[in-house]
Amino acid sequence: MTIKTIPTTPIDGQKPGTSGLRKKTQVFMQTPYLENFIQATIDAIGGGAGKRLVVGGDGRYFNRAAIQTILKMAAGNGVAEVIVGQGGILSTPAASNLIRENKTDGGFILSASHNPGGIDEDFGVKFNAANGGPAPEKLTARMYEATTTITEYRIAEAGDIDLGRIGETTLDDMRIRVVDPVESYQALMQRLFDFDAIRSLFAGGFTMCFDAMHAVTGPYATAILEGALGAPTGTVVNGTPLEDFGKGHPDPNPIWAKPLMDLMMGADAPDLGAASDGDGDRNMIVGRGAYVTPSDSLAILAANAHLAPAYAGGLAGIARSMPTSAAADRVAAKLGIAAYETPTGWKFFGNLLDAGKVTICGEESAGTGSDHVREKDGLWAVLLWLNILAARKQSVAEIVTRHWQEFGRDYYSRYDYEDVATDQATRLMDGLRDRLDGLAARRFADLTVAGADEFSYLDPVDGSFSEGQGLRIAFEGGGRAVFRLSGTGTQGATLRLYLEQYSGTDGRTDLDPQEALAPVREAAQEISDMSAIIGRTEPDVVT
Ligand code: G1P
Ligand code: ZN
Repeated sequence: MTIKTIPTTPIDGQKPGTSGLRKKTQVFMQTPYLENFIQATIDAIGGGAGKRLVVGGDGRYFNRAAIQTILKMAAGNGVAEVIVGQGGILSTPAASNLIRENKTDGGFILSASHNPGGIDEDFGVKFNAANGGPAPEKLTARMYEATTTITEYRIAEAGDIDLGRIGETTLDDMRIRVVDPVESYQALMQRLFDFDAIRSLFAGGFTMCFDAMHAVTGPYATAILEGALGAPTGTVVNGTPLEDFGKGHPDPNPIWAKPLMDLMMGADAPDLGAASDGDGDRNMIVGRGAYVTPSDSLAILAANAHLAPAYAGGLAGIARSMPTSAAADRVAAKLGIAAYETPTGWKFFGNLLDAGKVTICGEESAGTGSDHVREKDGLWAVLLWLNILAARKQSVAEIVTRHWQEFGRDYYSRYDYEDVATDQATRLMDGLRDRLDGLAARRFADLTVAGADEFSYLDPVDGSFSEGQGLRIAFEGGGRAVFRLSGTGTQGATLRLYLEQYSGTDGRTDLDPQEALAPVREAAQEISDMSAIIGRTEPDVVT
């Protein structure tokens, strides 16, 4: 077999964001865009010789073609073995698990997460390290550096590999193992949770709707919920992964999972509604008539995790991203364990999990997970909820209400301003940053500023320092507003405004969230001068 060394030149804009490199699919399809990034990543990990890797993706358009290219490039770079999901399918948490179980040197995951898929939509590549987690900042910096100095890439000249059949094959000297994408992930879930108790729950008539949103979790949810746990056929809807996700937006939140929300708020609502995103790492939880915010879900899962076998011994600590509400901190305080606040992006949890400092982590953007893998895990969150529901024998709404009664409620909402002109977004952030010091004790709308700063993070495990992680303004009386620019958008800038208001333990917990957040929202919009700078205060998406 011939290995070709093909000359290439650097391509602009190949800097990985919070979750790998994400661009329009057609950009990735243009040789050598994908090739440059794969070669740069292989170079950044010290070359492919003798390495073992996992490869798979969420099944979106271009998934299979990209995998063929990656396999040939892996062979061209002397990689010893690649483990691939059958049909090119692997959810992000399942890929993380395969990297860990097989002790590989890492893996490529092909996905643009919750962004739409298709030839005119988005594609993405992430590299996960040997611990199974997203490449840490040091590695993404090396990857980016390598994209700016690249001169050639190596690729084996060969026909396509058959990914449809489970088993082993070779490409030049490289071994390729095509594996069932679900099997070892399902075995892991079976070790973590009380499947017998959940099976009895379903046998007793408990009803559920899991919306896989035509994305990767379909086969996982069908095998686990309807197969192993005996939920009735039809519990999983939209369960076949489609290349364009049925033209939907596979993002599990009340906006994009509206049909599920409508079902759950209607007269025929089942006991539990859940959804996951394109690559299976995000989750949405909704009870009959009761949507659970991701920040609350993290806190409730942490407070009740001991009801599941894997966490019966207690938690080491809890971590949340900075914009996530403080609800989880209150649980940590009650349990007498450490609470960590990290920058946005799952990669910051990796060191804390590896060092055994935390067991459970989560983000306001519908990501929750634990030390069982090094990614957030949508189905894991759903199964932990099921385990808790089976043990407590209460409804979702009851569990949530009791949690608020005990800890107080952290009213929460995120406003997204999409496709903002980059210079306007920068002007808003720069202007606010310059004024932060002078904000303390000043009054805006009806609120007094308690303090304001720009969040930075000193990693307690490896001492790395991350700056510029969001501007935060705390108000007297338990309110907070955070401004941050998204790192995952593919068009213009996305400005995120995160709003939070704590009720206290004796305050009302039954208000409409938008009403409870109105003072913080008005103060935040005034402080940032949003309407003058970006010309609007109405967000595109409210979650
Ligand atoms: C978004 C979320 C963040 C998450 C990331 C990857 O990033 O806000 O919590 O880790 O997607 O799923 P952002 O676009 O805000 O940079
Ligand atoms: Zn995702």
